[in-house]
Order: sequence, then C-alpha cells, then structure tokens
Amino acid sequence: MTAVPDQPAAPDGQALDAALNHLDTPALLVDVGRLERNIDAMTELLAGRGVTLRPHVKASKCWEVARRQLIAGAIGFTCATVAEVGWLRQQGVSDLLWAHQPVGPAKVAFAVAAAAEGGLMVTLDSVAAAGPLAEAAAGAGVTVPYLLEVDTGLGRAGVQPETAVTRAKELGALPGLALRGVVTHEGHLAQYGSDRAAVERAGRAAGDLLAQVASALRSDGHPAEIVSVGSTPGATSAPFASGVTEARPGTYVYYDANQVRLGSAALADCAQTVLSRVVSAERSGTVITDAGVKAMSSDTIAAAGSFGLVCDLDCQPLPGVEFSGGYEEHGCLTGPGVAQLSVGDLVRIVPNHACGTTNMFSQLYAVRAGTATEIWPISARY
Ligand SMILES: Cc1ncc(COP(=O)(O)O)c(C=O)c1O
Repeated sequence: MTAVPDQPAAPDGQALDAALNHLDTPALLVDVGRLERNIDAMTELLAGRGVTLRPHVKASKCWEVARRQLIAGAIGFTCATVAEVGWLRQQGVSDLLWAHQPVGPAKVAFAVAAAAEGGLMVTLDSVAAAGPLAEAAAGAGVTVPYLLEVDTGLGRAGVQPETAVTRAKELGALPGLALRGVVTHEGHLAQYGSDRAAVERAGRAAGDLLAQVASALRSDGHPAEIVSVGSTPGATSAPFASGVTEARPGTYVYYDANQVRLGSAALADCAQTVLSRVVSAERSGTVITDAGVKAMSSDTIAAAGSFGLVCDLDCQPLPGVEFSGGYEEHGCLTGPGVAQLSVGDLVRIVPNHACGTTNMFSQLYAVRAGTATEIWPISARY
C-alpha cells in the first residue's frame, strides 16, 4: 500500500516572520528542529530493529507533522477518532489503524464505508462490539480487517491474554470480518514514574506477552501477521520483544513534561510549548498568565499537581516557579521565582501531556531559531 500520498504530501503551512513577542497569547509553538530530530530518531530506532512505525496521529493532528513522519518512513497512522480517520483518508493516507472499538450505528456505518474503499483496520475485543459491525459489513458485501485488542496491563479495553484464542474463535464465526493480528497499548508504563529500568522491564514484558498471544492464535489456526505495540515510554522496549512487528508511539514527535519525568526524553527534546504572557501580579507570591486550562488541558497526571513546566523564552526552566493552578483562561504561577516576573513578560510552558494540549488549539506556530516562521493548521480536533 502507498503510505506517502503524492498530492496531499504538499506543505500545508502559511509563511510568517514574527518575533515571539508579536504573537497573541496563549499560542501553541512547535520547534521545528526538535520535531524533525524526534521524528528521525524514532524512525531510525525502529527501522534498525526491523519494526514498522505506525505513529498515533493524535499527538499532533497536524498535516505538516504527519507528512514529515510519512516522508521519514512511517507506514501509515494510528487514529483514535472518526474525525482523525476521515481527515487522514482525505489527505490520501492509505494505511490506517483505527485503534478504538467501532461501536454505535454511526461508527459502524463509517467503518464499513471506509473498509469498502480499503486501507483501514479496526480494533475489536468482544462479540458485543463486533456483532453489529459484522452484520453491516456482510450486508454490504464488505470485509473489515481488524486487530484483536489485548490488555497487557493497562486495564482499559482489550481481552485478557488467556481469553484471546477463545475470543478469536468467537469473532471468527462472524461474517464480514478478517483477523490480521493483535494490538495493545502499554500505557500502564506511566505508573513506574522516573524508575526507567522498571519502565523498560514492563515494556519488554508487554511486548513478550503480546507476541505470545499472537503465537497462541497462530497455533490455533488464526492469522496474526501483525503484532502491534504502542506507546512513547515503551518505544525503546516493547517493540524489541521477539515477534513484535509494529510500534505506534505518538507523543514522541513533541515529547512533554510527563515523558521527561518517565525518562523517555530530555527537556531539550520537547518540541511543543505554550507561549503565555503574565497579565496580573497583584498578589505577592503569585502571578496570573493568560494560559489556563483551556490552553494546557486539565491533564495533571504524574505531574504532582502542576499544569506544566514553566520556562523562559529559550525553554530553560524558570527556577522557583510552579504552574500550580488554573482557571479556564487564567494560569496561576506560584513560588519564590515569580518575584522575577512582571506584567507583560512571556513564558514558554512545556505541557504535561502534548496530545491533550494539541487538542486545545486550531493552529500552531512553527518556530525556527526563536522566530515564528509558519502557521500550521491543526485538524480533526475531536
Ligand atoms: C491505542 C494507542 N496506541 C498508541 C498510543 C500512543 O502512545 P503515546 O501517547 O505514549 O505515544 C496511544 C496513546 O494513548 C493509544 O491509545
């Protein structure tokens, strides 16, 4: 399948030459040098081990990022939502994994119509989820390819590993569906925090477990040519388990404060920041910015109550400054370091979770050498 479309691979950005001080805030910034380094490094890491890369697009939702990933060697993308699948299909990307259960009439109709045109796999874990899809597909004379979702520790969707063979048999009895392999999201690695060795061990264990499930399926006569793991903290471990064929990290294009805490990246790798301005300093020990929860997302997971890492314009952390609270459009910075900040000052905040922050903006500024040089649209924001 052609992964890099001819026409739509054309750039999507609008040229600009603006000093950061001239941008309205809050503004989403992406450092293009860091972005391209992250894309190249992940592509090389996986290619060197013979594992294909199918990045999750939700981290960027941005064609300028996605097309760079395709050009570097991604085989296609992983999507979470109908909007992401529909958008990438319009862009001409012909190898997509919709890593969500297509449940409900609207999703069933969408999956069948997309599968009829080819280039889409879905994810299933139960007969209850698969039944209506199978019926609609068979009625339309379409076969929908799918991966069986396996829970390797996250405790979200997915069959338990020991149930996989039975479930594959049950799903195999339904019409209109074709099993292609197995998929897991090893998101539980985040629980190990800064203990990188534990993150690596758990990632490897998730990859091993998924490969064992694939092998059990094959022994029982089911096809399982795709063995797909996926996460940024697990990208250096899970894909390298013997038998894994594909990896689906997403956050790696930007990284974020959570990934720095997990040891997946250094602060110097973080490509996404929110540019924000101090707008009020009436209370001692606190300054108020214009980047609140509607700019950062409310994602404080693993961040000890912080809404993001506050940095100066060169992306160096501001000592003694915590992003400790937020209203919709107001951020609260506290700590001894805020005495250095005055109304009108700019800060750059490294978000806790890049994917959630992406979804808060309809465009981003591509930054090169400290200047905003392009505006890139953000698509499929739901
Ligand atoms: C199914 C699936 N695959 C891949 C990913 C990418 O993981 P990460 O955000 O750690 O890169 C996610 C993230 O939530 C996911 O849900």
